[in-house]
Amino acid sequence: MEANMPKRKEPSRSLRIKVISMGNAEVGKSCIIKRYCEKRFVSKYLATIGIDYGVTKVHVRDREIKVNIFDMAGHPFFYEVRNEFYKDTQGVILVYDVGQKDSFDSLDAWLAEMKQELGPHGNMENIIFVVCANKIDCTKHRCIDESEGRLWAESKGFLYFETSAQTGEGINEMFQTFYVSIVDLCENGGKRPTTNSSASFTKEQADAIRRIRNSKDSWDMLGVKPGASRDEVNKAYRKLAVLLHPDKCVAPGSEDAFKAVVNARTALLKNIK
Ligand code: GTP
Ligand code: MG
Repeated sequence: MEANMPKRKEPSRSLRIKVISMGNAEVGKSCIIKRYCEKRFVSKYLATIGIDYGVTKVHVRDREIKVNIFDMAGHPFFYEVRNEFYKDTQGVILVYDVGQKDSFDSLDAWLAEMKQELGPHGNMENIIFVVCANKIDCTKHRCIDESEGRLWAESKGFLYFETSAQTGEGINEMFQTFYVSIVDLCENGGKRPTTNSSASFTKEQADAIRRIRNSKDSWDMLGVKPGASRDEVNKAYRKLAVLLHPDKCVAPGSEDAFKAVVNARTALLKNIK
């Protein structure tokens, strides 16, 4: 009888995806791709001219994935060449160099460039972004720490990985997670699965951590005017303590921010009569 017949196994379905790399010149985009695809590292800098294209096959669950990688040149000079390649992308590898603050500060400008090229009907919500904090092997020159990078990435719903194209650290894990997320997206009708799309902390928490990190003194840290009263200091402190208490806030860097706020309050109260 039909009902008792063994079910035919579904043939594994292949999938074709498009991935692009983005980020300032010399941050290591080409080296990250080379490390993953060719298992090697080239220390001499060979700037990408406009765009490099490559195809690779990977397997995610039962699916064979054909990945078209467009490795973009980061130099502003090549804007006219790379601007055509933003559309129809499922995944973006967004790279900065942990020793180059400029490259981290430019991440927003890269998103803006992509948004502009996709036009008013382009939708960045349904693209998987992975942020690579690259060159972590250069520990001496590091100026963007993990919590700062992670906070930026996760507050946007992006994946975050610490990588070194030189040593290979983090590279396979990054690509594996990236491809799994893209396949999940494709299997979800091209929409980001809701579980991954929202950060587990609020924008207010993320903004407070960033503000505290960049504050110039204890007054600034608590967000009160120099010369504020004990009451004003305590009020500002309580508000931040509730917002950032490690029991309540899981945003990267919240613990350090909380400690900094406690210290700022102690320092200020010592000198206020
Ligand atoms: P453009 O193509 O100009 O946009 O640059 P890119 O981002 O592709 O940079 P590329 O991969 O060519 O690397 C730039 C330089 O950084 C090269 O000299 C690499 O050897 C070096 N580099 C890349 N990744 C790492 C890394 O993880 N650690 C160290 N120490 N150097 C790296
Ligand atoms: Mg390159």
